[in-house]
Amino acid sequence: MKPQNLCGFYKIRTGFEFRFMASMSLFILSMEAHAGTNVKSQFSHFAGGFVLTLLLMYVVGLLIHKYKPKALVIGIWISMIFVLIDQALDFMERGKFLGQVIDFLSHAAGTFLAGYMMRNKGAQLSGGMDNQHQTVLNDALLIGKGTKRKCYQHPDDPMLCIKVSSGKGLRSAKRETRYLKLLHRRGKSVSQIADYKGVARTNIGDGDVFEMVRDYDGSVSKNIEHYLRLGDATITAKILDAIEALRRYLLTESILFSDLSLANILVKVSENGDYKLIIIDGVGDNNHIQFLEYQRWLGVKRCIRKWAGFVRNVERKFPQVAKEIRPFVS
Ligand SMILES: Nc1ncnc2c1ncn2[C@@H]1O[C@H](COP(=O)(O)OP(=O)(O)O)[C@@H](O)[C@H]1O
Ligand SMILES: [Mg+2]
Repeated sequence: MKPQNLCGFYKIRTGFEFRFMASMSLFILSMEAHAGTNVKSQFSHFAGGFVLTLLLMYVVGLLIHKYKPKALVIGIWISMIFVLIDQALDFMERGKFLGQVIDFLSHAAGTFLAGYMMRNKGAQLSGGMDNQHQTVLNDALLIGKGTKRKCYQHPDDPMLCIKVSSGKGLRSAKRETRYLKLLHRRGKSVSQIADYKGVARTNIGDGDVFEMVRDYDGSVSKNIEHYLRLGDATITAKILDAIEALRRYLLTESILFSDLSLANILVKVSENGDYKLIIIDGVGDNNHIQFLEYQRWLGVKRCIRKWAGFVRNVERKFPQVAKEIRPFVS
């Protein structure tokens, strides 16, 4: 299973209502077609085959969980069976053999074009939402525990982790993944955020797949608190530089965050000893009605407050360090 593909599946879901309505309208329009050899009629049949295949793929893929992996193939088959019956009935009624054959071929061309264009999505559906594939997690794979989620190493890929939320954490997890998908759609850099890769079905419930933050030597990166606790002046200075780089990144990319803390930021150490901070939890707008992501100035205002909250979080344990952190916008 390729978790990246799961993300693609989510993209399908995002605009589902809109696509469904658009496809439905096109399909209804295409029903206007009658047997005939004129271009308009053929285009209509072509569009009918194309749209019907897409519609079937979406409907089967989204509504009938069991058949998700085969949604595209099922879409193609039903579309072809539909046109065969439709044209046979038309032929019996009107007897225009050539016209029916051409209509059939136009519909088939539309069907196969849709199949060709959606071949990757089809693979995503089959790879991503394979109902049979259940990732088995156990305590040996547990990496860390927060207040809302447990984080496990992905058993198939050490560079990924799976976070399984407790009941009360489900909503905030959904908000976070929604926001990360939005960042992707907007083409923003996620270079300092553990990237979201999709969903995974596990033996302990559905989880979210994220990039695992690891140091150059393969060990799971430790959080800021770990490094500040060492009380080493050089390391502390490096952490402060890294915090400043993180602030600039968040500001430049206009990334919203709500829950930054010493525990939610990991320090990725590279081979040459550089530190790069990666946020693992707390990006996005945690308001119940999310509007900040559309309003840059409100977003910045909120980030100023939230960054001050982060500085207070540092201050509680490391007052001297907190003094060195610049405000979000000065
Ligand atoms: N992407 C990641 N890479 C490495 N470790 C992680 C990652 N995400 C989470 N963890 C570990 O799991 C713990 C809990 O994850 P977190 O997302 O902070 O849960 P919560 O939302 O409950 O606070 C973290 O404190 C950290 O130790
Ligand atoms: Mg956390």
